[in-house]
Amino acid sequence: MKTSFLAVQFAVLALALPEPEGHEFRAPGPFDSRSPCPGLNALANHNWLRHDGKNLDWPMINTAAQDAYGFGPGMYKPFVDMVFQFNISTTNTPNETFNLFDLARHDTIEVDGSLTRNDIYFGDDVHFDASVFAPVAQDLGLNQNLSAHSFVTTETAALATKNRLALAKRVNPAFNASASQHESEYGTTALYLYTLLDEDSGTTPKPWVKAFLGEDRIAYSEGYSKGSSVKTQEQLDAMLDALLSLATAQLYLNVTALGAADGASTIECWQVKSPFAVATDAGTPGSAIAQLGNIANMSYLAIPPNFDGGLHRALAKQWVYMTSGLAYTTVPGNNSAGAYMTGGEFGLIFAADTADVSTEGHRTQYHSNTQTIGIQLPTLNGETPAHDVLHSGPCVTGEVSGLRSLV
Ligand code: HEM
Repeated sequence: MKTSFLAVQFAVLALALPEPEGHEFRAPGPFDSRSPCPGLNALANHNWLRHDGKNLDWPMINTAAQDAYGFGPGMYKPFVDMVFQFNISTTNTPNETFNLFDLARHDTIEVDGSLTRNDIYFGDDVHFDASVFAPVAQDLGLNQNLSAHSFVTTETAALATKNRLALAKRVNPAFNASASQHESEYGTTALYLYTLLDEDSGTTPKPWVKAFLGEDRIAYSEGYSKGSSVKTQEQLDAMLDALLSLATAQLYLNVTALGAADGASTIECWQVKSPFAVATDAGTPGSAIAQLGNIANMSYLAIPPNFDGGLHRALAKQWVYMTSGLAYTTVPGNNSAGAYMTGGEFGLIFAADTADVSTEGHRTQYHSNTQTIGIQLPTLNGETPAHDVLHSGPCVTGEVSGLRSLV
């Protein structure tokens, strides 16, 4: 109750913040020049760069990136240099200045698979395209829970970019982004996450991302502040590294499991082989979801406080989810390898030590002073989910707590 009250207070405060004088948002007119880059367009829309977006030079970009976004001096020099190296400027001084529209020349700085613009194959790679952005916004969860304290995580951003690249590749027969160009999409993902990083919370608020990517607008009215510390190339590179490793390393669910070897039960840490994906279902878009297979039936179990379940085998190959309470499981002959399971966030285990593979089974004691509530979910046809055994013994906190950063 208290949290949501504070959140509302913050949201109201954020909404009340004015745009800086002289830098109010003004959409481009028909003769203004704009680019495929939301970062530069927003600077022009807020008059940090000339509003007409024409005849821009390096000092102008350098000053605007510092004043509006808090970047250190010199950070964007390599990008501006590329304009002249690719020889894409159409101004009268093409070695010193450029118009924003010049940046739309395909296969120079502009590449296929952008988050907010379509590929040139479909005719327009410069204007915001709602149909391109819709699935990205859905992956980022920008369509719901837009309170001031909701934010885009690095994991979600990496998955959203990965999905956008995969979609662009599928629908565009001329898709030609090379591996290094793919990397540039993660580079621009790092750019928006870092440019819009809220210094106070250390996160990138969703409303700021939505205004920036969706409207080429700096979210002053939603509370955007560039903060007081200078943004650096090193931090931006670190963000890019994190995004790339998240995009290449898929995330998997680790669970403690009761297995069996040589007719005896074992306690092991399993990694379920179907990786997390970004959910697109109504109600939970943008969430991380892993498929755990089909279920035969389901039962709800209320175990008394301080209960000893004795030695027994799993009745079926089944998921067991403890919503509350505390369980301690051991296997005969190996007292050192006990597994404590607490109900709640990490209360999921898989039990596979059925009578056909384990002679004695395992023993579970419920040490809690309250009831332990469990949901039993036997798998369809007694299937065991495809998995890798990470090690013997239960999964440790670090192996399961990583999931927290997904939500
Ligand atoms: C000032 C800070 C800047 C920020 C925050 C920024 C941010 C971004 C973002 C988030 C994108 C991805 C848009 C999308 O995928 O739809 C992007 C794309 C782009 N940016 Fe910037 N940018 C900045 C500066 C620059 C500069 C200095 C240049 C070149 C002079 C530039 C050229 C481009 C181009 C050509 C694209 C399109 C790339 C593509 O095809 O995906 N940007 N930028």
